[in-house]
Amino acid sequence: MLDNYNRNINYLRISVTDRCNLRCTYCMPEEGIDLMAHDEVLSFEQITDFVKEAVASGITKIRLTGGEPLVRKGIVDLVQLLSDIPGIDEIAMTTNGILLEKYADRLAKAGLQRVNISLDTLKPEKYREITRLGNIEDVFKGIKAAQKAGLNPVKINCVRMPDADLDDLEDLRKFCKSNNLDLRFIKQMDLASGEFSVVEGGKGGNCLECNRIRLTANGKVKPCLFNASEFDIKELGIKKAIDNSINQKPEAGTKNKNGSFYGIGG
Ligand code: 5AD
Ligand code: SF4
Repeated sequence: MLDNYNRNINYLRISVTDRCNLRCTYCMPEEGIDLMAHDEVLSFEQITDFVKEAVASGITKIRLTGGEPLVRKGIVDLVQLLSDIPGIDEIAMTTNGILLEKYADRLAKAGLQRVNISLDTLKPEKYREITRLGNIEDVFKGIKAAQKAGLNPVKINCVRMPDADLDDLEDLRKFCKSNNLDLRFIKQMDLASGEFSVVEGGKGGNCLECNRIRLTANGKVKPCLFNASEFDIKELGIKKAIDNSINQKPEAGTKNKNGSFYGIGG
């Protein structure tokens, strides 16, 4: 469906959980986060109903995000349920890759087509520092498993931090090139200040061409990452929440003091 600025809204990002098995410094505060109550989180049935309605409004592509989508119990079943919905031509996922070795095959069989894997450094100690909890070897295994399962082309998301080590980034570039991985750099963003930017090698951050809406894990539809407005499907019903999001999608993002990446999924 076209919005008021003639953009064809056909892409839905679904955050399936606000939980994560890592604690990246730029994403979560040191002291942890207030998690959504379990009973607020949408069931698979609610997500499936939402996607059916979204297809009727012109959505054809879905991306599952989090938090970390692979920590949601039954995630493979959810992918299967969504890929069975007629009208969805593309299902992708953004993951930190830690659990991918375990799930890649089953996800691909259930209908997942592609993955973006977050990796900001090639150095094991630096990776541990950034993620506070992660073992980089698990990500490497996850990347291989994803390629082997046919989730190609596998993309790597690298958040560029202000103090990034240029040699490290160059090594990451070479690593991606020699392993057939598409590398995209994302500038570290701050939702509250409105410092957002175009994703190099990706499509995010370009308001003129923005074709997306977002569904949070607790059922709020958000027309823009850099705008506080949201429409609750539990208050408005699914159709009205989707219609409002498309009709009230702002021309351009500004800032979002209420937002968080773990809650909206980037
Ligand atoms: N700025 C930019 N990207 C971020 N991500 C998480 N927090 C931020 C931030 N503050 C990224 C993750 C992942 C994607 C879902 O969002 O690294 O690649
Ligand atoms: Fe988890 Fe992704 Fe946030 Fe890191 S950036 S803490 S992997 S949700």
